[in-house]
Amino acid sequence: MNLPTSLEVKNGHLFCGGADCAALAEKFGTPLYVTDEVHIKENFRRYEAALKKYTPNVQLLYAAKANENPVILQTLAEEGAGADIFSAGELREALDAGISPEKLLFNGSSKTEEDLRTAVKLGIKISVDSVDELRLLDAITKELKKTAKIGFRVNPEIDVPTHPKIATGIKNSKFGIPAEMILDAYREALGMEYINPVGMHCHIGSQILETEPFKIACKVLMDTAAAVTALGVKLEFVDFGGGLGIPYHRKENPDRAPTPEEYAAAVTPVFVEACKNTGISPAFWVEPGRWMVGESTVLLTKVNSVKRVHKTFVNVDAGFNLLIRPAMYDSWHEVMAANKADLPDRELYTVTGPICETGDIIAADRMLPEICAKDIIAVLDAGAYGYAMSSQYNARPRCAEVLVNNGKAELMRRAETYEDMTAAVQIPSWHKKP
Ligand code: LLP
Repeated sequence: MNLPTSLEVKNGHLFCGGADCAALAEKFGTPLYVTDEVHIKENFRRYEAALKKYTPNVQLLYAAKANENPVILQTLAEEGAGADIFSAGELREALDAGISPEKLLFNGSSKTEEDLRTAVKLGIKISVDSVDELRLLDAITKELKKTAKIGFRVNPEIDVPTHPKIATGIKNSKFGIPAEMILDAYREALGMEYINPVGMHCHIGSQILETEPFKIACKVLMDTAAAVTALGVKLEFVDFGGGLGIPYHRKENPDRAPTPEEYAAAVTPVFVEACKNTGISPAFWVEPGRWMVGESTVLLTKVNSVKRVHKTFVNVDAGFNLLIRPAMYDSWHEVMAANKADLPDRELYTVTGPICETGDIIAADRMLPEICAKDIIAVLDAGAYGYAMSSQYNARPRCAEVLVNNGKAELMRRAETYEDMTAAVQIPSWHKKP
């Protein structure tokens, strides 16, 4: 298995960030998310350095939605990250983590009036997703007598080789304004008293394993940037979104994922050349989420039972309540026996969760060493869109998250309790017992 740098096999056990996964499962209980902090820091530095090799004025805006644990946000804030935020909640988390307001971009195709008002009051830049939203923002800024710095989200209308549910720059996507309509939007914004259009934004999709689509999107955006510059817009940033994929397939036919260096080599020269031709010098912004955190984390789950019927099922204690990606996008995550990491593969197993749905399959038909009850299965590459998309379905409280750093391991979020899960329940008067 081609392991990510956060993982290694020692003395027959899987280690994450220098800590023995089987021992962590024993100490903190399962299911358990385990994240290597060092891996995230290294990822941030590597991504930033790759881009800065070509253009000095770079800002990474970590896509908070991928993993918004406040400790991870703080780790990235300390490295100098900004954040792509998609809700008032993510905005608050980013500010609480110490990310400076100038490094935030409030994204989203359906922001509330309250979201916009909060962003204007706090001076947060906004990626405007429609002309209707622009007009609402105009009204809010007039009422508050406060200028809002905005960019528009451009839909570059390109096909992206990824799962259709996460291709966001295609023609029929709900996100962004088509390039042919964008000039009118900038023109209208330029005429508004308290709206200052200083940016341009796109995000073409997620888990993209080729650099070409990013290059095409960059070209579309920079052509658009030249056109809006001619209108009189002074661009301070062009934001190319996130999307760089990671190699989820690590065993047979492993994925070939582009590195940040390859991404930078493909995209930044298009940007630099276009800036020169247009005579502009906006900052180069990107919004990586998955690439920053995806490989940093394993989900540890204990085997409750093994059932040998027409297939051999390994029934574990984590299901799509904790990792929905396989059920939602047919995503592949490698699985390993954390306490039998150096034993030879023996049998074909299907790892299934405890949820009352047939689709609650974490990993189908995988070769593993002989598995029995109480073994610990590690689900790899669970750091992005794992805990962040978890639920309490089937009245299962969410599990704990542990942060490791060179072998040290502590909780960064405790497991929820039954009381946490029911804390918001209210009893209507006619249901109250006298
Ligand atoms: N910027 C914007 C505006 C986004 O919508 C996203 C992700 C990102 C940046 C970060 O993209 P990344 O670098 O992580 O690919 N839940 C799905 C992925 C959904 C992505 C949503 N937007 C999954 O588990 O695959």
